[in-house]
Amino acid sequence: MQYVEPPPDPKPDGKKSKDKFTTVVATARDERRIAIEKAQIRDVEEIIELVNGFAAMNLMLPRGPQYVYENIRDFVIASDKNVPVYSLTETREVLHMIVACGSLHVLWDDIGEIRALAINPAYQHLGLGSKLVEFMKEEAIQLGLKHLFTFTLTEEFFKGLGFKRQGRDELPPKVWGECSRCPKYFKCDEIGMVLDI
Ligand SMILES: CC(C)(COP(=O)(O)OP(=O)(O)OC[C@H]1O[C@@H](n2cnc3c(N)ncnc32)[C@H](O)[C@@H]1OP(=O)(O)O)[C@@H](O)C(=O)NCCC(=O)NCCS
Repeated sequence: MQYVEPPPDPKPDGKKSKDKFTTVVATARDERRIAIEKAQIRDVEEIIELVNGFAAMNLMLPRGPQYVYENIRDFVIASDKNVPVYSLTETREVLHMIVACGSLHVLWDDIGEIRALAINPAYQHLGLGSKLVEFMKEEAIQLGLKHLFTFTLTEEFFKGLGFKRQGRDELPPKVWGECSRCPKYFKCDEIGMVLDI
């Protein structure tokens, strides 16, 4: 398990956020830490909520429970421990909240795909996305893979981690497996990127 610094505590204003992401309210800073670890079954609902928040903005593919349960061993999560949040009933509770996720899906004997990488907007630009990719890269090396692949709209982020843009004709056939199930099938705007590991 790895830890990173949480973002500064937001000021509590007593109002519920209209944002589709959970509101974070003030908390004692020394009680907080963000842990990066493999996902468990109990995390499925929060992973879906996080990913589908971005899918609704057309930034990534939507994922349903069947996909996430079947592939839960692919998933890595980052959770902010001991965050006080308001539940739907507006009761203040202390929970640990999933603030980021990503998954490594093995495609073939030498290549794995980074999928479903999503960081809660309140936790972006803290290095969490990079740390999750590093975590999955280590897993990929342990598995004996030689390349990581991703389809993305955020070329600059992956470029910063050493991924290189690939022309559609250069991509290995295995990477197209999910495309027939993708809502963007007829108007794909994503870029294929590869990292040799
Ligand atoms: C893209 C995303 C995963 C980045 O996560 P993050 O934790 O904010 O990334 P990091 O803090 O590790 O960023 C490292 C650097 O990558 C670059 N970067 C980060 N997000 C970026 C973005 N959206 N566009 C372009 N470059 C970006 C920046 O140079 C950043 O450095 P900086 O914070 O000093 O500016 C996150 O913004 C996200 O979840 N976006 C919405 C969903 C999405 O697009 N997922 C990728 C689908 S494959």
